[in-house]
Amino acid sequence: MWGAMSHLVLVGMMGAGKTAVGSLVAERLGRPFVDTDDLVEVATGMGVAGIFATQGEERFRELEGQAVRDACAAPTPSVIACGGGAVVSAENRRVMRAAGRVVWLRASGAVLANRVGDGAGRPLLGSGSSAATLQRLARVREAAYEAAAHVIVDTEDLGVDEVAERVLEACGR
Ligand code: S3P
Repeated sequence: MWGAMSHLVLVGMMGAGKTAVGSLVAERLGRPFVDTDDLVEVATGMGVAGIFATQGEERFRELEGQAVRDACAAPTPSVIACGGGAVVSAENRRVMRAAGRVVWLRASGAVLANRVGDGAGRPLLGSGSSAATLQRLARVREAAYEAAAHVIVDTEDLGVDEVAERVLEACGR
């Protein structure tokens, strides 16, 4: 059973709705909302795209790992949205699962591409077809999301409100 004292951790691909759904769920639970990309940006004073461009993905992943550890170590039970690639690290998955309930917001490549649009600010999408890249990344990461998650919520074409309700239900609230 999911304890009131533990975090609610959202994982899933870019465009899955982690930020929009997470903010709403946090509001409904009266908890702080934390986004690991924001923590990285605050820690470095740089945007995610700028970090990828000047320091590379590997450095970004180190900073992201630190952000996951910091968010999960916070004493106040929070709703934590993790950047889409955070689950690829087994250590991040371990930290998330130990910190609370991990929910995978799952959506098909087509739905993700629709939500992400031209991919602005998302360095991994580059200038090519977002849909193809998202589909490929989603496939490569599927096993990692599955290993990270306690619960899967299919978002498909549902609105933010409905997905938030499903997340709360999945966590027994
Ligand atoms: C990434 C997802 C992004 C951000 C970075 C890399 C990924 O976060 O961390 O651009 O590897 O999927 P969102 O999932 O919040 O867009």
